[in-house]
Amino acid sequence: MADRTIGFGVVGLGMGRQHCKALSTARGARLVAVCDSDPERLNPVAQTYGVKAYTDYAEMLRDPEIEGVCVATPSGMHADMAMVAAAAGKHLLIEKPVDIDLERIRRLIATVRQHGVKAAVVFQTRTIPVFKRLKALVDSGRLGTLIGVHAILPWYRADSYFQGVHGSWRGTWAMDGGGSLMNQGVHTVDLIQWMAGPVSAVSGRFGVYAHDIETEDKAVAILRFANGALGTLTTTTAAYPGSDRIFLIHGTRGTVQINDHLVSWKLVDDKDGAEEREMVAFYGPPAARAEAVTVASDPLAVGATGHVFHVEDLAEAIRDNREPYTAIETAVHAVEIILAVYESGRSGREVILS
Ligand SMILES: NC(=O)c1ccc[n+]([C@@H]2O[C@H](COP(=O)([O-])OP(=O)(O)OC[C@H]3O[C@@H](n4cnc5c(N)ncnc54)[C@H](O)[C@@H]3O)[C@@H](O)[C@H]2O)c1
Repeated sequence: MADRTIGFGVVGLGMGRQHCKALSTARGARLVAVCDSDPERLNPVAQTYGVKAYTDYAEMLRDPEIEGVCVATPSGMHADMAMVAAAAGKHLLIEKPVDIDLERIRRLIATVRQHGVKAAVVFQTRTIPVFKRLKALVDSGRLGTLIGVHAILPWYRADSYFQGVHGSWRGTWAMDGGGSLMNQGVHTVDLIQWMAGPVSAVSGRFGVYAHDIETEDKAVAILRFANGALGTLTTTTAAYPGSDRIFLIHGTRGTVQINDHLVSWKLVDDKDGAEEREMVAFYGPPAARAEAVTVASDPLAVGATGHVFHVEDLAEAIRDNREPYTAIETAVHAVEIILAVYESGRSGREVILS
């Protein structure tokens, strides 16, 4: 039935609560059950949405009402948990990063293919209208030959973010796979490669400056792209109090800068600037924004709009038997780039990506 509603289960009820919220309003998808090993997290969410509650993930996967699973557990668990779900015939929406280990990611992709399920990764930045508009501009060729992409993520996370029952996996190599770059920065790295194409070589440095964690809270990298362009990337969670991501891309025929909202849209063929005025009026910062708390300083400020897009898209992909918007295969390169930055930082040498 083409218009049937797809039932989802959500595992991991930190960011997973955003999936629940999204599923409660999404068209063509609905929340059937939630799962968390911590009953104190599980029970209130199950009560709020009036759905089944599981502390045992394997048991949730046996629920025949569930066709899709949202995996929102700590990053180092994603691939293993997603593989079990795929083997049970469940479609997947996996939180970013898809996992922190490339070998596990490859095995997951093989499992997804073997069982013929759909698998998408949450990269909600790719669903933000101004970035979709920029992607269309880049793909149209109106920026000319790409010269550079430059991004800074000057965010802040308080010590408490890394502490407590649900904070201790963060900032660890084993479960977070990195710090400001792998966790917070993966959206930005994905954006860079989505816009500018594959990265062929990486030089990176990283360090821990302001937190008591294993992994870095500051990383910088120089990126060489397969198409010849050059890029720079900085991520941190130590820039008090946290401010907008800066994203600048330029080619032989123009430059666009987006500091969360559109700052400038300069094109050689926009001679009188009319297009830029229109674009900034539409995608520029809203007046009330100065007061707003953003995800730059508060991880709980992530909006649900992107997650609604992702669950609706996956449900539609399942019904129409098409690839999801952020198919799992497209989420791998960001992890490759990030791991190359860490490898380069450790060795002090440029890392070539195949
Ligand atoms: N898309 C975004 O912008 C965004 C934002 C924040 C976090 N995330 C991602 O979401 C994931 C979770 O991050 P978080 O901040 O919500 O972490 P969290 O620690 O707050 O939540 C993870 C939950 O998983 C549960 N869990 C762990 N192992 C489990 C198991 N075996 N079975 C059932 N439940 C289990 C924990 O009890 C916990 O409640 C991470 O991969 C992170 O990168 C994405």
